[in-house]
Amino acid sequence: KPHKIAVVVGSLRKDSINRKAAQALILEASGNLEFDFVEIGDLPHYDEDVEDAGAPIEWTRFRKQVSEADAVLFVTPEYNRSVPGVLKNAIDVGSRPYGASSWAKKPAAVVSVSPGAIGGFGANHHLRQSLVFLDMPVLQQPEAYVGGGFDLFGDAGELKSDDTRKFFKSFIDAFGEWIERVAATD
Ligand code: FNR
Repeated sequence: KPHKIAVVVGSLRKDSINRKAAQALILEASGNLEFDFVEIGDLPHYDEDVEDAGAPIEWTRFRKQVSEADAVLFVTPEYNRSVPGVLKNAIDVGSRPYGASSWAKKPAAVVSVSPGAIGGFGANHHLRQSLVFLDMPVLQQPEAYVGGGFDLFGDAGELKSDDTRKFFKSFIDAFGEWIERVAATD
């Protein structure tokens, strides 16, 4: 049966190059992978007092969507050499209530896309730090620090370079294999 992958994009921007990259990755995926974008822009700031008073419906919706997925694909910009606050908030929301994290044990992959040359390396690895603690086995190779992000896409969001397209295919194929490997050791 197909593997269900929750796609979490760390940008809320309409023309986000990270969202375009997520869509381009999905286009390259083989048939045994299914993708659902899980939105994070409406999640109220994480607050333990709010949790104790009763989780808002947006948190509950988000936790359910993550829980129902077999794996998680993160595609994120870098903000000030780390992840955008909205993404960290989503990580925190999904990690609670204490002892009931939606992330636990789910295989994950991280892609960072930036207009700059470093390809969001800082964000990519800051995110990995949280994922280690959350007990998510994260794909290690290939790494995806995607630079030059403003030049990657045509008007319809298509990848302009065949080399990039091949790289995206190799990445998403490796993630599919990683999901299988993690499932086999369960
Ligand atoms: C940025 N940007 C940025 N880029 C980068 O490579 N390293 C960084 O540390 C930062 N820092 C940063 C902070 C803030 C507050 C903003 C708004 C932006 C630029 C960023 O990569 C660029 O805006 C991308 O277009 C964001 O990705 P999306 O929204 O296009 O997916």
